[in-house]
Amino acid sequence: MSNAPILRVENLYKCFSAKDLPAVKDIHFQLEQGEILGLLGPSGCGKTTLLRLIAGFEQPTTGQIILNGVSVSTPDHCFPPEQRNTGMVFQDYALFPHLTIADNIAFGLRHREQKFSRQDIRQRIEEILHLVGLSGLEKRYPHELSGGQQQRIALARALAPRPSLILLDEPLSNLDVQVRHHLRHEIRQIIKAAGISAIFVTHDQEEALAISDRIAVMRQGNLEQLGTPEEIYTAPASRFVAEFVTHANFLPAQWIGGVWQTEIGEFQGAIAPQEQSTDGELMVREEELELIPQAEAPAIVRERQFLGREYRYCLQTDSGKYLHARTGVNQLVPVGSRVQIKIQSATPQIFAVS
Ligand SMILES: Nc1ncnc2c1ncn2[C@@H]1O[C@H](COP(=O)(O)OP(=O)(O)OP(=O)(O)O)[C@@H](O)[C@H]1O
Ligand SMILES: [Mg+2]
Repeated sequence: MSNAPILRVENLYKCFSAKDLPAVKDIHFQLEQGEILGLLGPSGCGKTTLLRLIAGFEQPTTGQIILNGVSVSTPDHCFPPEQRNTGMVFQDYALFPHLTIADNIAFGLRHREQKFSRQDIRQRIEEILHLVGLSGLEKRYPHELSGGQQQRIALARALAPRPSLILLDEPLSNLDVQVRHHLRHEIRQIIKAAGISAIFVTHDQEEALAISDRIAVMRQGNLEQLGTPEEIYTAPASRFVAEFVTHANFLPAQWIGGVWQTEIGEFQGAIAPQEQSTDGELMVREEELELIPQAEAPAIVRERQFLGREYRYCLQTDSGKYLHARTGVNQLVPVGSRVQIKIQSATPQIFAVS
């Protein structure tokens, strides 16, 4: 196997109409062989559009997509989906209700340029059902399966023709929380066992962190940051990424006397202030706050939630700002008491106020 990237996206733009802003704006990245990329971002930021461009359901306005070393999309030419050797899994499963599970899976094998014999098809159905843990269900119809099982069949159908890249558009969002948690680990294992690359769209931060080798965070058609889950979490490139991925608190901070001063203390910032601005915002993650009960302290506990393994506190500072903190269950602070807030981060991050 070569080490060339499986996918290269170059300066991609997609405008649906001249009067609207582009749905996808100047996106470029590459996907390595066997890599799972999580595509994360709020509703309407262009995730599905990017996936549809890669799958060949949309043509770019400018830019280029190179799959397996071949230019498959430019404004001048666009290979149809069936010539791309990609598989796609949709949010609503999109199984054919009148076909059995076996025929649903076989559909993807029969409608390819590469032809499979009947014997190959039967063998591949068996193999792939085994891979998704649903052997023996060949003769059932989709309505005779649970939502989680149907989604695994949709994955099996997309994997059956051995695509080099699989594109999954929020495949778990219709499932209940428990099935979702279970399936996201399973999907990762199945994709890794099949040895193919994947792009997994979600707007659930936790799901992206759990399933991805790298995460791409999108905002209003742009790629805001691309990095490993650890990089995105610990070093968000912008306030948007910090807020979207980590649910961080933000505290106003002023650059005074060579340090950032906030309502709850002074900090050496990770980012020097912009020359023209001495105003910033200190990012404080919920799990990085330590609460020290103290009579004259500058914050008050407004609310406490028991979450099983931790407490989540809502605090209000004397200026009226709300902050959230998470602590171990051994730290029980009464609602209404005053607390000193200590930040446990080694490198607190400061974002310039734009
Ligand atoms: N066929 C289309 N014609 C016109 N505008 C479109 C079309 N498809 C998408 N858009 C617009 O492009 C933007 C991005 O849409 P897209 O479906 O890619 O978002 P998304 O990130 O997948 O959102 P969600 O999380 O809600 O699925 C939106 O403003 C949407 O209205
Ligand atoms: Mg979408």
